[in-house]
Amino acid sequence: MNVALLGYGSVGSAVAEALIENKEIIKARCGEEIKPIIALARSPKPNALISVVSDVNEILKREDIDVYVELMGGVEFAYELVYKLLKEGKKVVTANKAMLAYYRYELESLVGKLAFEASVAGGIPIIKALKEGLAANKIISIKGILNGTSNYILSAMSERGDDFEDTLKKAQKLGYAEANPSFDISGEDAAHKLLILASLAYGIRAKPEEILCEGISDINALDMYFAKEFDYTIKLLGIAKAQDFSVELRVHPTLIPKDTMIAKVNGVMNAVSIVGDLLGESLYYGAGAGGKATASAVVANLMEFARENYFEPMLGFKQNLPFTLLKKEEIFTKYYLRLKVEDKIGVLSKITNLMSECGISVDSFLQKPKINEPHSTLFFTTHKSYEKSIRKLLKALKEQEFIKASPFMMRIEE
Ligand code: HSE
Repeated sequence: MNVALLGYGSVGSAVAEALIENKEIIKARCGEEIKPIIALARSPKPNALISVVSDVNEILKREDIDVYVELMGGVEFAYELVYKLLKEGKKVVTANKAMLAYYRYELESLVGKLAFEASVAGGIPIIKALKEGLAANKIISIKGILNGTSNYILSAMSERGDDFEDTLKKAQKLGYAEANPSFDISGEDAAHKLLILASLAYGIRAKPEEILCEGISDINALDMYFAKEFDYTIKLLGIAKAQDFSVELRVHPTLIPKDTMIAKVNGVMNAVSIVGDLLGESLYYGAGAGGKATASAVVANLMEFARENYFEPMLGFKQNLPFTLLKKEEIFTKYYLRLKVEDKIGVLSKITNLMSECGISVDSFLQKPKINEPHSTLFFTTHKSYEKSIRKLLKALKEQEFIKASPFMMRIEE
């Protein structure tokens, strides 16, 4: 089986290397050799493994290619190319979560075959788990650490008090971060992946802009201090929860109890916890980024094509189920607030009055003793409240003259 690699960066070259290094084992397991024969790169360099070209037409005009592997990233150009290939009935493997987050339903309706294991959680076979192993379950919830770069940064901040920017640079050097690392930091990359999982579990057609998505860039050492004091860990989670036929989808930094399994997932590792009505909780853990880990998933899809046992998604994107997306404002959960305030009489009572006006009940409170600082930092956690109530409170707090920095909020999952 001949393969063209549309994209030859860290993942593309890792796929070519894996196909060559593990040639014997791959052939033994799927009955034929899978050969990377041509690759597309922006600036091709002489290469001993594979012929590398910069003009996609040189690949498209060839008639000896059995499967195309799209590893270019980006949305529109990749979509046009994959659309054309699938429309012509070709087989495509993609790792492109951003493209799928926007166009998965358009692509699924075409005649060709699309496999996308590497698009979510790198090397973890989570797509296969949802499509096949869990196919009999009603999916009650999915909670995942779906972005390796942000987990790498949060782990370093929490374990060693490392600086945000330096850790991001290290993640970029190691090849974990996206070409545009703001996708990692802003939660967008995790949101793209959550949408793919939510489509497989619920047939939810939402686009990235429609779901709640917040990143990690406002988390600071004070939040890490609070988390430690109250036995929490901070993780950027992608969360899908179904109640009846309403599904909430959200990506945000989250305080989770430090003794849960997912709280112990550190560094670039990803983990996804899925609760099904039959199985209960199952947890999938592994490398979520990096060339080799992603190549593991890409090559597994190529082997499925070689074996001709590629299944149409059984829990496919186009499920005929009546799930709808819960409005962001209707999300109901616990919240954490960090407020920098003027240290004077009456401030605390004004804050709790505003909370009570917004229908929010305090669960815990901490005032960090001041050392040579002009202002005090107050930490609150709330009982379960509606997102719309918290937003109303944050708006009201911002208008108070005793609030000395933009209030910071995180959600809590227990
Ligand atoms: N930038 C992504 C991450 C790579 O850090 O998880 C895998 O999608």
